[in-house]
Amino acid sequence: MKTIDQLDLAGKRTFIRVDFNVPLEKGLVTDDTRIRAALPTIRHAIKQGARVILASHLGRPKGRDSRFTLEPTGARLSELLGQDVVLTDDCVGDGVKKMVADLKEGRVLLLENLRFHPEEEANAEDFSRALAASADVWVQEAFGTVHRAHASTAGMAKFVAERAAGFLVQREVEFLSKLVKAPARPYVAVLGGAKVTDKLGVLDHLLSKVDAVCIGGAMAYTFLATQGVEVGNSRVEKEMLGPARRVLEHAAQADVSVVLPLDHVCATEPKAGVAPQIIDGRAIPVGLLGLDIGPKTAHLFAERIGSARTVFWNGPMGLFEVPAFSGGSQTVADAMIRNHEAVTVVGGGDSAAMMEKLGLAKKVSHVSTGGGASLEFLEGRELPGLVAIGN
Ligand code: 3PG
Repeated sequence: MKTIDQLDLAGKRTFIRVDFNVPLEKGLVTDDTRIRAALPTIRHAIKQGARVILASHLGRPKGRDSRFTLEPTGARLSELLGQDVVLTDDCVGDGVKKMVADLKEGRVLLLENLRFHPEEEANAEDFSRALAASADVWVQEAFGTVHRAHASTAGMAKFVAERAAGFLVQREVEFLSKLVKAPARPYVAVLGGAKVTDKLGVLDHLLSKVDAVCIGGAMAYTFLATQGVEVGNSRVEKEMLGPARRVLEHAAQADVSVVLPLDHVCATEPKAGVAPQIIDGRAIPVGLLGLDIGPKTAHLFAERIGSARTVFWNGPMGLFEVPAFSGGSQTVADAMIRNHEAVTVVGGGDSAAMMEKLGLAKKVSHVSTGGGASLEFLEGRELPGLVAIGN
């Protein structure tokens, strides 16, 4: 995979597809991790005298919608870079062409949200050509979006003279590949989050790689239910009972231990302010729902993590936004940062956001900026945004 440092960028219109799909509140970026993650690539391009054109999506707007403007993102980027970042009012068209033509070496343009055009997600060829018209070089730096075959993430690459990966994509691929190709054993995966549906693909794939899977979060109740355990009012995905049972069967055949919760932190409702109750045992009484793994389970997961040489974590162990139900996720995070001998990787999404918030992100080997993208990578799927880079 060619990387940006192998290209001569001086004077070239360097189109960098970034993933600035960041959370916003009242017009401000509340978590700038993804913006900071792209800075080394952007700074490199500036230093090389490239004419830098950044492009991203934000959210899932249906056509042009001012709530999804990249204005707050551009403002934050400009603060981080310490130089002006000019936001265009569209990502294609005559106005953009003129601004790109006038763009000086070492200066940065940020194109307005790519998804204001439905052709972006449709990967329309005309739209890909229109984007490529502003570029001599295409740099893939949007790791969080490499699993999407969209115009900017894949389609336009073939219409541009040179292609390369940015430093973030290079690092993501390097770390996640360690989990796919010959990971050091024991390899323990910790999976949580709300839905079995979201994790089924990665679970299937992981069973041929890992020694143990620790399952927490709401998805654990579906697994417990398949074993006939009473889970009270906890969330169970009825349509996933069959697939979950099959995962347990495959795990047994593959000699992979699946560690399910032995105790729980429960409450009557999933919200802040309700009294947490520890239920010491697998079964949850009717009237209560599980909102975090219990202390015994957390200890057990921590032990598994502590003796591993490779750890992958994706998905919170409970309703971690509420402090009373964040203990399990906190214990998993702590166990990961204490294990200095293991390659420790956190898949994106909520668990990555939590590591950032707790200030622990730098203490594990790698925190991926990709949620869906990191899971699909681990599933061993071909990712269109990586294929488009070429060799
Ligand atoms: C993400 O946040 O996972 C990426 O930016 C991709 O966003 P999408 O799921 O809306 O395509």
